[in-house]
Amino acid sequence: MENKKEPIIIDGKLIAAEIKKELSAEVAKLLDAGKRPPHLVAVIVGNDGASESYVASKEKQSKEVGFMSSVYRFPDTLTEQELLNTIDFLNNDPEVDGFIVQLPLPKHINENKVVQRIDPRKDVDGFHPTNGGRMMYNMPSFIPATPFGIMTMLERSKIDTVGKHCVVIGRSNIVGTPVAVLMSRNNNFANCTVTLCHSKTKNIKEICLGADIIIVAIGKPEFLTGDMVKEGAVIIDVGIHRVEDKTKERGYRVVGDVKFDEVAPKASYITPVPGGVGTLTVVSLLQNTLKAYNHEIYE
Ligand code: GUN
Repeated sequence: MENKKEPIIIDGKLIAAEIKKELSAEVAKLLDAGKRPPHLVAVIVGNDGASESYVASKEKQSKEVGFMSSVYRFPDTLTEQELLNTIDFLNNDPEVDGFIVQLPLPKHINENKVVQRIDPRKDVDGFHPTNGGRMMYNMPSFIPATPFGIMTMLERSKIDTVGKHCVVIGRSNIVGTPVAVLMSRNNNFANCTVTLCHSKTKNIKEICLGADIIIVAIGKPEFLTGDMVKEGAVIIDVGIHRVEDKTKERGYRVVGDVKFDEVAPKASYITPVPGGVGTLTVVSLLQNTLKAYNHEIYE
């Protein structure tokens, strides 16, 4: 009879709930000391469906931990200059600790210009090049929400990372590239040997077969299959996709970048989709907002 160990499913919801409890306790202390709560603002231009649901979740979770939360909503006719003026206003409002400008923006607005206008001290998304540069040099910085959430999941699950081979699949600015840097860091946590794979990588299967930890952020449904994974690997799935499934009442199912049914039996730890990395995104943003409030990153 086969004596196969079940993988440990890393429970994003549980970790998120734990962190929210910690944040609520911090807010309670601030209020007890007669201080105002941290204040996070989201700016949203136009009506992108995904952006709306992200902002709604941010508002709900901000309130759950006792933060102040505001949303600035603008029609997609807003000019670039008007958006830049709004950013200047938020940069200078002493009662706003952190803010995000929801992406994507309408085509007539230059995203780089907008992101660079945000005061790095209030850039809780960690998208400003000053925060990216500081992260590169291992200086205190705001870490973008998804990489921050991944690091939190690994750390709180007590995954042994030191000297391990970590393969990151995908090199986006907001996930793959920063997480590859963070996993290679000589910090109390991380210290991996990192291989960053992307669309032009040759022998991706062989590279993955040598990995102790695989972080998949390539944006392709069920990209990582069972034959690419060695026994005992730790699997972090960043993807989230709807794929057509006529057997389901709603006509689709939600999958990640990992073919879960094939990969899970080989893994020691694996994140589910949904209920994995995605559940930590907003929580990470709240953690960054508290850091902004406390001036932990910048004097
Ligand atoms: N669009 C999708 N995810 C994000 C995010 O984390 N921050 C911002 N600003 N826009 C997004």
